[in-house]
Amino acid sequence: MKIIGTGSALPSLAVTNNDLASFLDTSDEWITERTGIKERRLLSTETLYDLAEEAALKALKASGLRGDQLDFIICSNVANRFITPGMNCILQEKIGAKCAGLDINVACAGFINALMLADSMMQAGRAQHILIICAEEPSKYCNWDERDTSILFADGAGAVVLAAGDGFKSVHLSMTSNKDVLYYERCMEKTPFEKNRKEGQPLVMRGREVFRMAVSQSTKDLKVALAEAGLKPSDVTYYLMHQANKRIIESVRTLLDEPEEKFPTNIEKYGNTSSASIPILLDEMLAAGKIHKGDILAMSAFGAGFVSAACVMQWMY
Ligand code: ACO
Repeated sequence: MKIIGTGSALPSLAVTNNDLASFLDTSDEWITERTGIKERRLLSTETLYDLAEEAALKALKASGLRGDQLDFIICSNVANRFITPGMNCILQEKIGAKCAGLDINVACAGFINALMLADSMMQAGRAQHILIICAEEPSKYCNWDERDTSILFADGAGAVVLAAGDGFKSVHLSMTSNKDVLYYERCMEKTPFEKNRKEGQPLVMRGREVFRMAVSQSTKDLKVALAEAGLKPSDVTYYLMHQANKRIIESVRTLLDEPEEKFPTNIEKYGNTSSASIPILLDEMLAAGKIHKGDILAMSAFGAGFVSAACVMQWMY
C-alpha cells in the first residue's frame, strides 16, 4: 500500500498563548516552555465537517482520483456532534464518493490504526483505493474554565488517499486498559429507568502520567516497527510523531539517539490536533518539498486508552 495524495485543513482562527492568558491563569512563557505550543487553530465559524471535506477534497485532487473511484472511506475521530450516523456517511456525498466506509476511534493513534486497516483490506483484495480522513475538534470537549487541557488541544483535519502497491513496511499497535489517565465522559440522554445517572464531564488528563507513558511506549513501538521492517533508527529519513508535546518528541528523539532534523514539528503553530496531527504534518512536509521518493518515514502516536501505534513506510513518488 502507498500514499498517493494528501490534504489538510485548519480553522481560520489562530489563538495565541497570550490570548489564552487573558482569561486563564497561565502564560506564554509557561506554555511555550512545557509544551512547545505558541498558538493553535480553533473552530469558530467553520464546522469540523467543513474541515474534513476540505482536507479530503485536497487529498483526492493530489491523488488524481475522483471521489467515485474510491473503494472505501475510513474516518478517525474521537468525538463530533453526530454520534450517529458516522462521519464517513456524512462526508461521502460531500466528496462525491459512492463507496461504504467506517469510523474508528483510537484516540490520537487513529491515523496509524486506519493505515493498518486500509493495508489489511488491500492485502485481502477488498479495495484498491481508500481514503482516510482524520478530523478532530478536541476544543469542544476541553474544560475552558481550567488551564490543564485547554492550552494543549486544537482542531484540524488531515487526509490521505491510498492505493494498493508497495511502500507500507510494518505497523505495531499497543494497548493497555488505563482509562483514568485521559478520558472524556459524554452525557447520555435521560431514561425513565436508569438509576444513579452520572453526568458527563469534559476531558480529564493526568498530564505527567500521560507524558511518561507516551515517551516509553512511543520509543518501544518505533523500535519494534523498525525491527519488523528490517531497519535501524538511523535508516529513517523522518520521524513523523504525534504532535502532543514538543518535550515528548524531544525525549523520544534522545532515547533513539537520532538527530533533531529528523523530527519535524508543527505543534508550535497548531497545538495537539489528536489523530489529525500526523496527516497534517505529512501534508505540510510534502507541500514544502521535504519528502522524496525512497525516503523512509517512521510514524508514532499515542493517546487515551492508553493506546499507541507506530508504522514504517517508504515514500513511493
Ligand atoms: N499554566 C501555568 N501553570 C500551569 C499550567 C498552565 N497551563 N498547568 C499546570 N501548571 C502549573 C501546575 O499547577 C504546577 O504548579 P506547582 O509546581 O506550583 O504545583 C506546575 O505548573 C507544574 O505542573 P505539571 O502538571 O507538573 O507540569 P508538567 O511539566 O507535567 O506539564 C503538561 C504539564 C504540559 C500537561 C505535561 O504533563 C504534558 O504535556 N503531558 C502530556 C500531555 C499530553 O501529551 N496529552 C495528550 C497526549 S494523548 C493525546 O494527544 C490525546
